[in-house]
Amino acid sequence: MSGLEKYWYIACRADDLRQRPRASRILGRRLVLFRDTGGRAVALEDRCLHRGAPLSQGRVCAGELECPYHGWRYDGDGALRAIPALAELPPLDRAHLARFPCVEQDGYVWVCLDPDPARVAPTPFANLDQPGWTSFRMYTRFEASVTACLENFLDCPHATWVHRHWFRTPTGKPVRAVVRTRDDGAEAEYFEEPREKSAVWWLLSPSRSEMKHTDRFIAPNTSKVDYAFSNRRHYTITSSCTPVTDTLTDVYTVISFRFPVFGPLVRLFFTPLSRRIIQQDVDILDATQANNGAHDRQAMLVTPADLLVPHILAWRRALEDITAPPPAGRETEVELRL
Ligand code: FES
Ligand SMILES: [Fe+2]
Repeated sequence: MSGLEKYWYIACRADDLRQRPRASRILGRRLVLFRDTGGRAVALEDRCLHRGAPLSQGRVCAGELECPYHGWRYDGDGALRAIPALAELPPLDRAHLARFPCVEQDGYVWVCLDPDPARVAPTPFANLDQPGWTSFRMYTRFEASVTACLENFLDCPHATWVHRHWFRTPTGKPVRAVVRTRDDGAEAEYFEEPREKSAVWWLLSPSRSEMKHTDRFIAPNTSKVDYAFSNRRHYTITSSCTPVTDTLTDVYTVISFRFPVFGPLVRLFFTPLSRRIIQQDVDILDATQANNGAHDRQAMLVTPADLLVPHILAWRRALEDITAPPPAGRETEVELRL
């Protein structure tokens, strides 16, 4: 068993789980989600005990899950409650589907594959639904591993190439970056970062207010990019990665911002802009994974400019192997050219 099974992953939006069952896949395990008699979200193994039909293709009847093949019914605990072809349920061994810890938080349904989760609650989304803040959500599927996604979301230099003119344009200017290890991951803070010549900065920060930019990795599967400005504007992009398989990742992103005036109006521009930028990441990660597959190995040369990459790798390896994570409180400094 991988230690990564002990963490919480988003299975779907809470609003998307209504009358019908939903299929979900986490770390290769196929699950069915539905709402039981009390409206509680539950996650069970998506395989009927009778002949193995996918229960996610069945129905929910009075809070019980009905198999599409012969109509066997299961309750929210995964217990077999009825076999329609028999007047009475006979005593059966093992008449119970595997059930997984499942909670609703921040408008999502989260599942842990281990009956004993490593943490009581999932990592929360920053600034969601806070007074004065506006948020919007995005869902993106990447043909890439969770590690590759996190690296990308927390990687400053790629923005200059992949998001040229949209987010960054190469200036070659020196930027100082400080990397700190934390008790839940690691973060990088950037100083004297160029902001000219791109659509994002034209929209978000046309004035020359001071900016504090930090990229943070929260183990094992969350990235948080934060831009705080001296004029009270503030943007936070939090992404939670769900490993569908080793090479497929569902990313749930919440973009939250505080924009003293016209907050809802900014959202009008910000939504399509964010989609455009994330699509550029989808394209480059898809192409990279396909290329690594075609060459039968992953290229993995890590340099000091890959600020958070060693920390992402070390943390994820430690949690997977259930060994001690890297120590907190270390600080290093790197000079980048952006
Ligand atoms: S396979 Fe599910 S009821 Fe027969
Ligand atoms: Fe990107």
